Amino acid sequence: MKKIGVALIGYGKVGKACGELLLSSEDLALAGIIRRPESRGQSLPEVFHGIPVVSHLHELQEVRCALLCVPPDMTEGMAHEILQMGIPIVECAMLEGQAFRAHKDAIHRAATRHKVPAIVGAGWDPGAISLFRSLFAMLIPNGHTHTSHRSGKNLHHTITVESVPGVKNALCTEQRTPEGRLQRYIYVEIDQEADQDRVIEAIRSDPLFLQEETLVFPVETVTALEEQGQGLMLERRGRVGQIGHQHLLMEARGNVVALTAEVMLSAARAIPTLHTGAYSLNEIPLANLWGDHNEIEE
Ligand SMILES: NC(=O)c1ccc[n+]([C@@H]2O[C@H](COP(=O)([O-])OP(=O)(O)OC[C@H]3O[C@@H](n4cnc5c(N)ncnc54)[C@H](OP(=O)(O)O)[C@@H]3O)[C@@H](O)[C@H]2O)c1
Repeated sequence: MKKIGVALIGYGKVGKACGELLLSSEDLALAGIIRRPESRGQSLPEVFHGIPVVSHLHELQEVRCALLCVPPDMTEGMAHEILQMGIPIVECAMLEGQAFRAHKDAIHRAATRHKVPAIVGAGWDPGAISLFRSLFAMLIPNGHTHTSHRSGKNLHHTITVESVPGVKNALCTEQRTPEGRLQRYIYVEIDQEADQDRVIEAIRSDPLFLQEETLVFPVETVTALEEQGQGLMLERRGRVGQIGHQHLLMEARGNVVALTAEVMLSAARAIPTLHTGAYSLNEIPLANLWGDHNEIEE
C-alpha cells in the first residue's frame, strides 16, 4: 500500500509530536516540514534525518494533505494559502465558541472555492473532547455540560484519605460546580490485596467528606498524576425533574500535545473520504478517522 504523503507546517510542540508519529505510521508518510526562515537553520532530532525541511509547500513532492501546527492566529491565513494550491488541510487551532464557528466558516468558503476538503478543530479540545461533549448531549438532551481544566499543581496529599486502610497514597482536589456547590475529587492508589469498593466506600463515608459530594477515582500511581500537568473533567447532568438522575462524567489526564497529534493523524486518514468543504470531527464518521476497529468494543 502506498503511504499518503503528509506535510507538516510548523515544528513547535504539536508539529514535533505529529512528525514523530508520522515517522512510525504504516499508512502516512512525512513528506517534509515547512518552517519559517529563522527556524530552518535549527537542527532537528536524528530521527528526522533525510526529511526535507523547506520554506514553501511548492518545494515538496507528493503532498496529499498538510497538517497546520502554527499559532491559532496564523492558521486561517495559512489554510487559505494551502487550499488555494488544491491541497487539503488538517488544523487544530485552540478556538472555541463563536471564534471557532467563524474560523470554520472562513475555511469552509476557501475549501469550497478551491474544491478540496479541510478538517478543522482536529486536536484534543477542540477535537476529541468535542466528540465526547456531543455524545453526552445526545444521551442527555436536556441538561448542562460543564468542563473543568485542571492541572497537577492543584492536587494535594490528604492525610485523612491516606490513613484509610488499603490506601497507599492519595491526592485530593476540589472545585465548585457552576451552581456553586463544592465537589471533592480524590485520586487513590489502592493496595492490591485491598477490596477496592470497600476502600472507596470508607473514604466517602468519612465525616470530613460527608458534607460535600466526593468523587473517588482509583489510579495506578498518584506520582504520575502529580507529574502530569494537564487534566480535564467533563460532566453532564440532566435537568431536575427529568427521568432519574442522569449524570455522565469523564475524567481525563494525559499529554494534550501527544493526544492532539494522534487526532491530527486520524484526521489526515479521513481526508480522502471527504467531499469539498470544511468539516469538524463531529461531522466525520469515526470509522473514517481510525478504521473499523470492532475488536476494541467490549
Ligand atoms: N486542539 C487542541 O487541543 C490543541 C492543543 C495544543 C495545541 N493546539 C494548537 O496547535 C497549534 C500549535 O501549537 P503548539 O503548542 O505546537 O505551538 P508552538 O509550540 O508555539 O509552535 C508553533 C510553531 O508554529 C510556527 N510558526 C509559524 N509562524 C509563527 C509565528 N508567527 N510565531 C510563532 N510561531 C510560528 C513555528 O514553527 P517553525 O519555527 O518551525 O516555523 C512554531 O514553532 C496552535 O494553533 C494551538 O492552538 C491545539
